[in-house]
Amino acid sequence: MKSIAVLTSGGDAPGMNTAIRAVVRSGFHYGFEVYGVYNGFKGLVNDEIKKLTREHVSRIINRGGTILGSARFPEFIEEKYQLKAVKNLTKRNIHGLVIIGGDGSFRGALALHNHGIKCIGLPGTIDNDIPGTDYTIGFFTALNTAVESIDKLRDTSFSHQRCSVVEVMGRHCGDLALYAGISVGSEFIITPETGYDREKTLAAVQSSYQRNKRHAVVVVTEKMLDVHVLAKDIEQHTGYETRATVLGHVQRGGTPSAFDRVMATEMAEFAVELLSRDVGGKIMCLSGLDVIDRDIETALKMKKTVSKKRYGLLGKLVT
Ligand code: F6P
Repeated sequence: MKSIAVLTSGGDAPGMNTAIRAVVRSGFHYGFEVYGVYNGFKGLVNDEIKKLTREHVSRIINRGGTILGSARFPEFIEEKYQLKAVKNLTKRNIHGLVIIGGDGSFRGALALHNHGIKCIGLPGTIDNDIPGTDYTIGFFTALNTAVESIDKLRDTSFSHQRCSVVEVMGRHCGDLALYAGISVGSEFIITPETGYDREKTLAAVQSSYQRNKRHAVVVVTEKMLDVHVLAKDIEQHTGYETRATVLGHVQRGGTPSAFDRVMATEMAEFAVELLSRDVGGKIMCLSGLDVIDRDIETALKMKKTVSKKRYGLLGKLVT
């Protein structure tokens, strides 16, 4: 019997478990034995590989995190580790591997693919930062968490007539901040795509104050600036008493949204179907509302596109 395996890698994301479940169940549908690789590429190199049963994946469709564990293992760029991984897979007759993670994980997938293991990547990260796909598994759950948290902050901001500066995750991608900013009706967003313009930021918040708004929200992508410093600056120059909040890793947890579950399931099933036809070297991408496959190499060379229209929304709605 042919065998396939599944691993999760990089920062975990809600929906990874849903995808693991779908890989296992579709694997059985296509007549495969399915293995789980624990702790990402590190576990692959260290031979942390176990056969999975239906029982392993029962009642995980709605669980955050990843039952397989995840790890960052940049060392996998070295060929000696790749060859160890290939050895651990081939000794179990595993010919195909589903890798759920971000673009770093896909570089690992490409390396393994070039060593003869059929690999299919599933985009799994809360950052929505993978080129070639409009969406990554976990993004909408993290967005909901951010929105729920900012709504709560707004309650207290309103009571105290304050401005809230909120830092969200995203690494080098502003999608979480953009979508959260639109969802909560924020005064201003600062993302890698917009850059930071101090004068514009202060002017937007000040204009809110002058219009007697009882609260203001500024959403910032992590790594852009120190939100505590920005909060002080806003307080000194706009009239609002201001507080800064870093949402942090809370955005990575929680039960996956229905959309993340549907997409994780569809992408995982498609991945296994490709493996059943002996096709590898692909990643699953959402294009519009369709799940399609792209060559890993092609996808990694694509540029992540941003919606100018969506970016334009905020400016037009602050009146
Ligand atoms: O890639 C997901 C992500 O949560 C990013 O948004 C963030 O920059 C990074 O991971 C944090 O990584 P770590 O959990 O290793 O600190």
